[in-house]
Amino acid sequence: MRDSLPSFDLAKSATMQVVQAEPFNAGTPLAELADSYIQPTSHFFVRTHGTIPSLDPETTTIHVQGLLAQPFGMSITEIKQQLPYIEQVSTLQCAGNRRQEMHAYQPIYGELPWGANGLSTATWGGAPLRALLERCEIEPAALHLVFESYDQVERHGQTFGYGGSIPLNEPMIEHSLLAYTMNGAPLPALHGGPLRLVIPGIVGARSVKWLRSIELSAEPSHNYFQRRAYRLAQSSEPEAWQTAPMLHELPVNAVLCLPTPDQPLTAGTITLAGYAITGGQALVERVEISLDQGQTWQSARLIDPPTLGCWSRWQIELELAVGAYQCWVRATDSLGQQQPEQPAWNVKGYHHNAIQRVRLTVC
Ligand code: MTE
Repeated sequence: MRDSLPSFDLAKSATMQVVQAEPFNAGTPLAELADSYIQPTSHFFVRTHGTIPSLDPETTTIHVQGLLAQPFGMSITEIKQQLPYIEQVSTLQCAGNRRQEMHAYQPIYGELPWGANGLSTATWGGAPLRALLERCEIEPAALHLVFESYDQVERHGQTFGYGGSIPLNEPMIEHSLLAYTMNGAPLPALHGGPLRLVIPGIVGARSVKWLRSIELSAEPSHNYFQRRAYRLAQSSEPEAWQTAPMLHELPVNAVLCLPTPDQPLTAGTITLAGYAITGGQALVERVEISLDQGQTWQSARLIDPPTLGCWSRWQIELELAVGAYQCWVRATDSLGQQQPEQPAWNVKGYHHNAIQRVRLTVC
């Protein structure tokens, strides 16, 4: 096993909302999310299940194996030298984003209490995943890309590397990267450096950090984080999670970031701001606000042009008199998908995308 770095990040712990100290997990403050389309690396959320491996980019190799004519390995140096380099802006979102709100609806036990800040956007740079796949003579039986990592995670008395998979026919593969830069600098270890996957539009869990291998397989990954966790189960009983759907595309979602819940509001023009996101190949189409429990809706302005695999921030000015309001926020995407009124509760509190209801008190 390789050396590990401390997972606790002192600089981030000062500016971020720490959800767990060890392994380190932290969200970007909501006000900052509303403020900036791209998060500086120092403010990008962190979701880590195990160790932070210390890997030498000169010697670390990615193994490409399984159902292909000729398995091979490529060092990160070879990936940099032999495959094209591109940059793209993509949002990553954790499956547990907005879990606390789902917990308030019906309790969720033993999971990290994420608010609505388990997501961030960055400019990622690296080799297109497609460029690597083009080097493979893939056998017809291969249906999934299975990823394994160099980190070490402990679950139920066993230690193993994190992993997951996506179907080989996933259209977002065309927009996926073997990323080794983040916001124009070398990818830091905390975010998966020296090399990670960035798979936009798909649950962040599949953007495997510290990538070790890519396997062409007839089946989805057998890793704990594909077979057991990151499934929409109604209970922890084996029969419930064995048949529960595996998480894949992100659901359509909108969140109010400003005003923050504790912010005093004065009667008059009040600016509401937040973000919206959707999954797969869909684009955010509109964000609406209701102050009368969904009877009427007003459209907010999308500040960022809808872009594949990226969030859009939104804003609206409302004339509000003194009083207490319940503000509903909902997004609709280009496939007509709209947020439900009630949460689709599940035992691990994933993919919460019910219409957000926020109390606003104007004095
Ligand atoms: N990859 C490894 N090897 N180990 C992990 O714990 N966490 C996953 C994913 N890739 C994880 C991983 C999850 S659940 C998310 S949401 C994203 O990484 C978070 O990436 P970030 O920490 O750069 O924000």
